[in-house]
Amino acid sequence: MDKLKGLILSGGKGTRLRPITHTSAKQLVPVANKPVLFYGIEAMAAAGIEEIGIIIAPETGGEIREVAGDGSQFGIAITYIEQDAPLGLAHAVLTAEEFLAGSPFVMYLGDNLLRDGIVELVETFESSEPDAMILLTQVPDPENYGVAELEGERVTKLVEKPERPTTDLALVGVYMFTPAILDAAKAIEPSARGELEITDAIQHLVDSGLRVDPHIVRGWWKDTGQVQDMLDANRLILEELEERVDGDLVDSRVEGRVVIERGARLERSTVRGPAIIGANAHLVDAYIGPYTAIGERVTIVKAEIEHSILLSGSSVRDLAGRMEASLVGRDVSISRSPALPRAYRFVVGDSAEIAIL
Ligand code: DAU
Repeated sequence: MDKLKGLILSGGKGTRLRPITHTSAKQLVPVANKPVLFYGIEAMAAAGIEEIGIIIAPETGGEIREVAGDGSQFGIAITYIEQDAPLGLAHAVLTAEEFLAGSPFVMYLGDNLLRDGIVELVETFESSEPDAMILLTQVPDPENYGVAELEGERVTKLVEKPERPTTDLALVGVYMFTPAILDAAKAIEPSARGELEITDAIQHLVDSGLRVDPHIVRGWWKDTGQVQDMLDANRLILEELEERVDGDLVDSRVEGRVVIERGARLERSTVRGPAIIGANAHLVDAYIGPYTAIGERVTIVKAEIEHSILLSGSSVRDLAGRMEASLVGRDVSISRSPALPRAYRFVVGDSAEIAIL
């Protein structure tokens, strides 16, 4: 088999993660202080893939280019491929035809996280040489995913987000393809939601008598498309954190799996892991509880935060109650106002959600 290339899909609209995605790509929202997208790039690099194409949208592509660069920080080469509009996963594959240049490839959805990476999958794909290989896992809500039916060791039927699923095997957002998928993507029509579905293209391979092998995923998998998924992914990654304290602790305590990055300063504060405190963050009289990722340059004064993600540059001050299960964007300020009249004062962007005590 020719050398595998990688294709990461980081276009799309990210409507389910608004308002964060009004201003930023959903694939750049951090999980344990690292953009989701980086986990996919690193998984590919670990599997020996050297050339990765990243599909970007016109609106958010610039930011992705800036953050991921030419790939040298990961030891791989990145080519950016702009997709004019989010017309579907199979459309994204067609957009990458020139980059793929007839090579087999791994396709990875830029908002997916796979605990065990893809090393074993690449080995199986290369040794068993099917026309395509899909990853499947049992989920409680298959209607929200592409769903597969199997007969023995073969995939027989695939349906995208069926109203009445016939199995609970969801398609995980990582796929192994030979160039046959390009012909299939050209042969299909857009779905009811107006997208060229990769699920339909794979069904086309099956209908053409080609071999599509299933691979059941054993470790955890997360599609980080929604806030709750993002918090779950953050928890799962933080659970495997290796303790490290590079910042300054002044009359402060850390317990359990905690990372304190360089330049962070804690005064009279407690951090109970698993948790990560980003570079140059400043905590004063604060309590940070389990499953929390505090971004770079975040300030927390007299507040308790648990099971949350705070992006860089934000600040939280003087909260009367504990903040939890929250996703706070960049440069957000949350504080108690001493000014009269005593009132709530908000300057909040579109699609934000606020729940007060
Ligand atoms: O996460 C697994 C699921 O991903 C599968 O079970 C489904 O079969 C598959 O269709 C897909 O469903 P989603 O509705 O979650 O896909 P989403 O629109 O979120 O797009 C996935 C990634 O691909 C995301 O990072 C955005 C990117 N994308 C999406 C579209 C539609 C593109 O780059 N271009 C596109 O045109």
